[in-house]
Amino acid sequence: KHKIIIDTDPGIDDTMAIAYAIAHPDIDLVALTTIFGNVSVDEATDNALALLDYFGYEADVARGESRPLVMEPKPHSYFVHGQNGLGEIEIPKSSKTATDRDAADYLIEKTKEMPGEIDICAVGPLTNLARALERDPMIADRVKSVCVMGGAVYRPGNVSPVAEANIWNDPHAAEEVFAARWPVVLAPLDVTTKVVLSPHFFADLEEADPRVGKLLSDMARFYARFYRSHSGINGCIPHDVMALAYLTIPGVYMQKRGALATVTDGLGIGQTIFNPAGKPTVDPVWGERPQHTALLDIDAGFFAAHYFDTIA
Ligand code: BDR
Ligand code: CA
Repeated sequence: KHKIIIDTDPGIDDTMAIAYAIAHPDIDLVALTTIFGNVSVDEATDNALALLDYFGYEADVARGESRPLVMEPKPHSYFVHGQNGLGEIEIPKSSKTATDRDAADYLIEKTKEMPGEIDICAVGPLTNLARALERDPMIADRVKSVCVMGGAVYRPGNVSPVAEANIWNDPHAAEEVFAARWPVVLAPLDVTTKVVLSPHFFADLEEADPRVGKLLSDMARFYARFYRSHSGINGCIPHDVMALAYLTIPGVYMQKRGALATVTDGLGIGQTIFNPAGKPTVDPVWGERPQHTALLDIDAGFFAAHYFDTIA
């Protein structure tokens, strides 16, 4: 089983990813670490605790950073994910609390307990991961992999002409994560936008699973309104699930090795740059950067059917 910690800002597609992790037989969801982004870190922490209760699953929750490393914080994405981050669907608050350790310390300690065994799947801004690297650079040698939903490599961004939201929310953190020598797998908008889950998909999911399927379907209705009004898309894009599912179904992704970097100032702030392996550059800086993996395409039909079957 894959031992996974999801670093998350729930978030509608975050919720879809958490539900997938709990439902998938090959995943042992160890913990949720929370981060600001779609909502504040306190709201993300409350949502994480409430979702685990709703799904009837026990896992640690560690509260993370409340703001970016360097920049002033950006407004949260309430217009995308609703005032509560969960598409304005109310689920009972949890009586449980987060661990005493913050997210970065939690990541440091868990990877010491289980060196080489933990995959971190980061589906929000990368501030917690950067903090963990700053406090203990050796963590890079102890994680199995770091799967990230973020960036836009060969296509426009979703918050600026070049930037994707998770990276744009803390470009300095993203740059630290990409510059570190741990195996990063990036699921940028290039791959995530290939999959659109339709209203029909969610109607079927709700019928197949009146509890989890219904919750996801109810939340998806809010999410779909955003996609319809902003992009004319009929349905919604399960961004965060697609970073996570790389760990279980890597074969359905088209992937390329290469270096990753983030622009940290100016008009292009938050842009993710990918330099494919073997592509010569005159600037030597690219030759020195660690090699990671970018996911660039996917068999979308297979993915949608697989998500349905896993949840239902
Ligand atoms: C990413 O931004 C957030 O709104 C989503 O949860 C996802 O992680 C997509 O750009
Ligand atoms: Ca997210």
